[in-house]
Amino acid sequence: MNNKMNKIMVITGTSKGIGRELSQYYLKKGYTVIGCSRSESELLHERYEHFCLDVSDEKSVEKMITDVSRKYKKIDYLLNNAGIASMNHTLLTPASVVEKIFKVNVLGTFLFSREVAKVMSKNKWGRVVNFSTIGVPLRLEGECIYTSSKAAVEMMTRILAKEYAGMNITVNAVGPTPVKTDLIRNIPEDKITSLINRQAVKKMSDHGDIINVINFFINHKSNMVTGQVLYLGGLS
Ligand SMILES: NC(=O)c1ccc[n+]([C@@H]2O[C@H](COP(=O)([O-])OP(=O)(O)OC[C@H]3O[C@@H](n4cnc5c(N)ncnc54)[C@H](OP(=O)(O)O)[C@@H]3O)[C@@H](O)[C@H]2O)c1
Repeated sequence: MNNKMNKIMVITGTSKGIGRELSQYYLKKGYTVIGCSRSESELLHERYEHFCLDVSDEKSVEKMITDVSRKYKKIDYLLNNAGIASMNHTLLTPASVVEKIFKVNVLGTFLFSREVAKVMSKNKWGRVVNFSTIGVPLRLEGECIYTSSKAAVEMMTRILAKEYAGMNITVNAVGPTPVKTDLIRNIPEDKITSLINRQAVKKMSDHGDIINVINFFINHKSNMVTGQVLYLGGLS
C-alpha cells in the first residue's frame, strides 16, 4: 500500500479492554496499529505490531517511537488509552498508589504525546486523543486520585492543543461513562448503578460509543476541533 494512504495509529494499553477493541476496530478499517502494554498481546494481525513496555518509562517510550518512526516514516494518530485506577476513600489510599496512578495516567500520556508529536510534526499533521472519565465533571468521591489524574490529563489536552496547533496536530479527550472492563471489575454493582443514575443518559458506554467520538476527533474535517473534552452520557 502507498505509504501516504496507509494510516499509522499508535494505541497505548492494547492487551485488553477498550484498547484491544480499538485495535481490532482500526485494523478492520485498514489502518496499521502499533500497540503496547506491559504484557504481551494476543492480537495477531499482519498490520498489528506490539511493544511490551511501561508507558511511564521514558527510555522505553522513546525507543518505541524511534523504532516506529524509522519503520513507518510517520504516525497519523495517537490514542493515549493506557490507564489504571484505584477506587478508594482518600483515608485508605497510600502514597504508593497515588504515585503509581499519576505515573501511568499522567506521565504515560505526557511521554507518548511528546514523542509522537515529534514524528507528527515532520508531516505537519496529526491527531491525538486522550482518555478522561466522567469522574471529573462529577468530582467523584471515592475516586479522588484516579479522577485527579484524569483532570491533569484534561488540562494537558487543553495546553497541548495550543502548543501543537502550529504543527497542525489536534489534541482532544474523550470521557466515557463506565465501560465493562477489568478497570471497574472490583467496583460493587450498586456503586456503578448510582453513578449511572447521575448521568443524563443512564447507561454504561459501549466500545462503539467511544469509537464514535474518536472518529469525530480524528476526522480530517475536524481540524478546527482541538483542546476539547467530550463526555458521554450528557455530562459537561
Ligand atoms: N472502563 C471504564 O469504565 C472507563 C471509564 C472511563 C474511562 N476509562 C479509561 O479508558 C482507558 C482504558 O481503560 P480500560 O477500561 O480498557 O482498562 P483495562 O481493561 O484495565 O485495560 C488497560 C490497558 O492499559 C494497559 N496498561 C496499564 N498500565 C500500563 C502501563 N503502565 N504501561 C503500559 N500499559 C499499561 C493494560 O495492559 P497491561 O496491564 O498488560 O500493562 C491494558 O491493556 C483508561 O485510560 C481508563 O481510565 C475507562
